[in-house]
Amino acid sequence: MREIDVDLLKKYDVAVPRYTSYPTVPFWADSPTQDEWFDSLRRAFRDQAASWSLYLHIPFCETLCTYCGCNNVIGRAHKVEAPYVAQLHRELAVYLQQVPDLDRRPLKQLHIGGGTPTFLSAANLDSLLAGIFNKLDVAHDYVGSVEVDPRRTDKGQLEVFRKFGFSRLSMGVQDFAPQVQRLINRIQPKEMTEELTRTARDLGYNSINYDLIYGLPGQTPETFLRTLNDTVQLNPDRIALYSLAVVPWVKPQQRLFKEEDLPQGAEKRKLYELACEHFLKSGYVEIGIDHFALPNESLAKARQANSMHRNFMGYTDHRTDVLLGLGVSAISETPDCFHQNEKSLSRYQGAIAEGRLATLRGHKLSAEDRMCREQILQFMTRGQVEFHNAEQMADVAKYLQSMIEDDLVHIIGSRLILTDKGRPFLRNACVAFDVRLRRASPQTQIFSLAL
Ligand SMILES: C[S@@+](CC[C@H](N)C(=O)[O-])C[C@H]1O[C@@H](n2cnc3c(N)ncnc32)[C@H](O)[C@@H]1O
Ligand code: SF4
Repeated sequence: MREIDVDLLKKYDVAVPRYTSYPTVPFWADSPTQDEWFDSLRRAFRDQAASWSLYLHIPFCETLCTYCGCNNVIGRAHKVEAPYVAQLHRELAVYLQQVPDLDRRPLKQLHIGGGTPTFLSAANLDSLLAGIFNKLDVAHDYVGSVEVDPRRTDKGQLEVFRKFGFSRLSMGVQDFAPQVQRLINRIQPKEMTEELTRTARDLGYNSINYDLIYGLPGQTPETFLRTLNDTVQLNPDRIALYSLAVVPWVKPQQRLFKEEDLPQGAEKRKLYELACEHFLKSGYVEIGIDHFALPNESLAKARQANSMHRNFMGYTDHRTDVLLGLGVSAISETPDCFHQNEKSLSRYQGAIAEGRLATLRGHKLSAEDRMCREQILQFMTRGQVEFHNAEQMADVAKYLQSMIEDDLVHIIGSRLILTDKGRPFLRNACVAFDVRLRRASPQTQIFSLAL
């Protein structure tokens, strides 16, 4: 196992963004009006070569997993399905009306996330996708992917996705240990995940991802090792290994966790390193801060080819110029603007019923934002980045002096390069390029002064 330097972990154990966007959402300041947002989309599509992807958010879940940080609506009543499908179609219609040609621009990627997309019945999924495919020009080589909860997914639903050419599935697993599953209110026997994996492979899905989380209550190196063994045995093509984000002020159900049940600090990091060692030994490649993939999988290939991207969904193997998000809380992105829908289902539905977008907030990127975004993206996806000029190099060298002295990053020529030892601290180094964060709180530290 890679050595864990407890002192370094303590020193750099501060809250830093995950950098799935820049500016990060708390620093969105200059919100577009709806007209400005439509203008931004039209501007993006003026370039005939502009590519785009679509994200659909399905918020519903039957039960609440106590660790969950996603935007969801909990309930067992399925009468919400059909109206929500109609609302997504109406929202798309608004965009099609406002953005000429959108229906003729080949869609490159379609991702459905949640909540639980498979909360919807096979029939409603079919009508959702048919309504979208009928209105859009979907590229012949488009990639369709969906997040599924094995507890709520059947073969009929997987057949519908395949009918529309979906090739990728991401399954929520989190942990196979029964005692951990009890503590997180998510009973999901290994056989259930195994069976769904087999069914998906038989149906022709060529990329299966498992989501795991480290830092969950009740996890110990012993229990986690068994989860890792089970995972490797089922041989998913990709593994997302997320650090448990503990945000009880946003997600009160996390208050149910007992402090003493939660692995923290070096104990928590040990779980990651244990997994990393196990996955590397089993033939996976480590990607960015929280992903692993088999070497012939598209994400591993994209990393190798330096074409990997990072957006609101985390690491992806392909970048498109526009990401359009539909559904409650969905986030969209163009080269110069962000846009997020209302997080409240009733407010989202109210706006759509009136034939308008359900804008919650957004951000118009300045020229400086766009430069920072590219540099942070480079560093998050490649572990190295070119400085703009000598002045920036001097500033970063000063800001990251401590990380340089600790051998976590090096400046070589005109580049900042992450060292192997620095991998756990990738995001700490990104703060050097986060002009908005540094400007808003000049005292922001990339390491902890308190410890
Ligand atoms: C929308 S869910 C996946 C689909 C489906 N709802 C399920 O649970 O199977 C997306 C993923 O986010 C991750 N996740 C949710 N809450 C988290 C948290 N507080 N910290 C870290 N990861 C979290 C989980 O790994 C989860 O599988
Ligand atoms: S982890 Fe998935 S199933 Fe569980 S509450 Fe969150 S979104 Fe719903």
